[in-house]
Amino acid sequence: MADLFTNFAGITSPNPFWLASAPPTNTGAQIMRAYDAGWGGAVWKTLGTPIRNVTARFAANNHGGQRMMGLNNIELITDRPLDVNYAEIREVTRRYPEHATVISLMFESEQEWKENIERSIENGAKGLELNFGCPHGMCERGMGSAVGQEPAVLEEITRWVKKYSSIPVIVKLTPNISDITRPGVAAVRGGADAVSLINTIKSLMAVDLDLMVPIPNVGGASTNGGYCGPAVKPIALHMVAALARHKDFNIPISGIGGVSNWRDAAEFIALGATNVQVCTAVMHYGYRIVEDMIDGLSNYMDEKGYKTIHDFAGKAVSSYSNWEDLNMNYKVIAKIDKDKCIGCQLCYVACYDGSHQCIYIPGAEDGRAPAPVEGYNRVPWVAEDECTGCNLCSLVCPVEECITMEPVENGLEPVSWKQYTSGEKPLPAYHY
Ligand SMILES: Cc1cc2nc3c(=O)[nH]c(=O)nc-3n(C[C@H](O)[C@H](O)[C@H](O)COP(=O)(O)O)c2cc1C
Ligand code: SF4
Ligand code: SF4
Repeated sequence: MADLFTNFAGITSPNPFWLASAPPTNTGAQIMRAYDAGWGGAVWKTLGTPIRNVTARFAANNHGGQRMMGLNNIELITDRPLDVNYAEIREVTRRYPEHATVISLMFESEQEWKENIERSIENGAKGLELNFGCPHGMCERGMGSAVGQEPAVLEEITRWVKKYSSIPVIVKLTPNISDITRPGVAAVRGGADAVSLINTIKSLMAVDLDLMVPIPNVGGASTNGGYCGPAVKPIALHMVAALARHKDFNIPISGIGGVSNWRDAAEFIALGATNVQVCTAVMHYGYRIVEDMIDGLSNYMDEKGYKTIHDFAGKAVSSYSNWEDLNMNYKVIAKIDKDKCIGCQLCYVACYDGSHQCIYIPGAEDGRAPAPVEGYNRVPWVAEDECTGCNLCSLVCPVEECITMEPVENGLEPVSWKQYTSGEKPLPAYHY
């Protein structure tokens, strides 16, 4: 049976599922309920010099039937007094000593950092997370993503924190930067024990076209916020993997961004994370989603024979390569399962207008398709010699496994762009 216990940069927890610093970790009472529900750790809602929030604060992007595909917020850090937060931290860490209670901090002066590191440790924190990622409000005051976007400043503050901290320090990175490896490597140089990413992506969600005000509407005006939820997962996965494979990066990664189920978590782990943090999915469905996450990940690990997270952490990193190293002689083509096809012909339209015009309708005068067959006369036909293997038809087909992309045994030896440009191998013959 898989053992989900994790040791993340020296912070242990019963499982790799932590709550990210956000509304679900605003109070001690919430975090204790979350631990009772099964969460292995929680990063406290960022502490700083208390602020005032505005209303409204959130806006969402719905897509198809999915509510909150993306969530945008203009909330700042904790708006509760530090004394109240620290009293609750003490209670949580005393009552849940096996859990990973990590305190997120964001301060301005070295003195403030020092005082709050000491108070966090006195009250039982297992680790610290430095919020260098908030892309709204706090960055206008020189904190949050303003620090995450300046690797030299990030490195210096990380050094201050390490000087005063006897517990592990996690640097939380902002995705609002062109090359994530620069702040990631700066965190390593500053002495961080780990990084976590991503914080939210700077965004403007939508515009109320009657009022002519972007949302969320704060009394007739709005501002840019931070985007998160399922929509950001591919961006977060890329950034995690980019760090995991970087030659100068060698500390643990906590994966954040759109994690909603065990499968998302397993993907982050395969690409180099050793735990994950969750915010939007809990804001949407509540703490209990962790039950399915734990069951799903355990079952997957049992099926694959992985005893601990470390048995598969980073296993997919080496297959994330540069374009120039891909094999240009590898070829797949689309195959339609005529018995699953419902004849909607979406694949035909997509290939005709959006790809390479190699799907034909049976019986159409300008087509190459064979004559219609009784019972299958709406099933399109793929001209395999013309198919570029782009995948588009299989992506638009509404029926699961109806269009599959199948490798062609062409007997050609692998050739990459790098091998061609270095003169090692000839350019492959053009194929559709
Ligand atoms: C309403 C809201 C408030 C947040 N507040 C904080 C915060 O105080 N500190 C912080 O480090 N991240 C904060 N975050 C960012 C989350 O911790 C997390 O990095 C981000 O939401 C991506 O994860 P997700 O896609 O699971 O939501 C906040 C996110 C939301 C939606
Ligand atoms: S999209 Fe799928 S179901 Fe629709 S016609 Fe094409 S193969 Fe058939
Ligand atoms: S894989 Fe691309 S090119 Fe081939 S049939 Fe499908 S859409 Fe057309």
